[in-house]
Amino acid sequence: MPALRCTEFNFGPKAHSDTFCDNLQQATDNILVFIQAGIFRPSLKRAKDGANNRQQKDRISALHFQCTIDTCVGALCDSQTKEYKMKQEIRKDFDQVATQWDTKPFRAKMANDVATAMIREIHPSADMKVLDFGCGTGLLTLKLQPLVKAITGADSSHGMLGVLKNKIKTQGLTNVHTEFVDFEKGEHVEGGYNLIVSSMVAHHVPDTLALFKEWHRLLLPGGQLCFADLDTEVGAFHGDNTGVFHQGFDRQELRLLLQEVGFHTIRDTTATIMSKEIEGQGFRDFPIFLICAKN
Ligand SMILES: C[S@@+](CC[C@H](N)C(=O)[O-])C[C@H]1O[C@@H](n2cnc3c(N)ncnc32)[C@H](O)[C@@H]1O
Repeated sequence: MPALRCTEFNFGPKAHSDTFCDNLQQATDNILVFIQAGIFRPSLKRAKDGANNRQQKDRISALHFQCTIDTCVGALCDSQTKEYKMKQEIRKDFDQVATQWDTKPFRAKMANDVATAMIREIHPSADMKVLDFGCGTGLLTLKLQPLVKAITGADSSHGMLGVLKNKIKTQGLTNVHTEFVDFEKGEHVEGGYNLIVSSMVAHHVPDTLALFKEWHRLLLPGGQLCFADLDTEVGAFHGDNTGVFHQGFDRQELRLLLQEVGFHTIRDTTATIMSKEIEGQGFRDFPIFLICAKN
């Protein structure tokens, strides 16, 4: 194991040459990279946009993934084996915020707007078995529940699921089920769904391609996927970026990933634009996309 050093990167807007790739590769090969993600990720995004060819773009994408973790990133590499070990213990503790989750009108509005857009795009029907992946307290789940045969809310937080379970009980709902699943720990939900919906979850999952593969596996042939998340932003949306592995997404990149996994008839729209007060900056608009696809 080589001696570990720390450094901090801040690549400029023109950092998109082969030298950039080589330097970055060398750095991540040999040292403990300590990155202020707020600075680093937008720079990598610019670098990727400016890449001269597909190979450069792929290399930057790979490094981007390796380096994507909350405000500080630890990417530890044994230079002899060239195997990276991500330090990804930093996840948001949704259990801690579960009982307060629904008290913010902002969240109810977002779920309402996303549900409205999903209903417009997908037309959920009474014969559909639906999975809400990363359902949280069920804000979206319960908007779709009256329209479908059955809906399962799956989530990796017992606390969030506990709030949803209370709602199911007090409202006497018979077609809503809950399932604990931590996708990142390799846990799986049983498949066989006509529709998978998900809102504001993908940015909490480091490996988007693996997530899409899982969604593809869970859908019945001819099933549909419809998920909402942030368009690319600079990391301002979440006051605390703990557990935020992607500062929004580029719709086109997601469409290509979905295609790679086997989805087709992929389309995107803007589900809503959320206005949020950012400390010291006043209100800022954050577009939330909705991507739907068939498997
Ligand atoms: C921002 S909340 C969104 C909740 C809900 N979809 C909503 O719109 O109100 C993200 C949710 O994703 C869940 N989540 C994060 N990582 C997950 C994983 N690896 N597997 C399953 N659920 C996950 C969290 O527990 C949390 O409830």
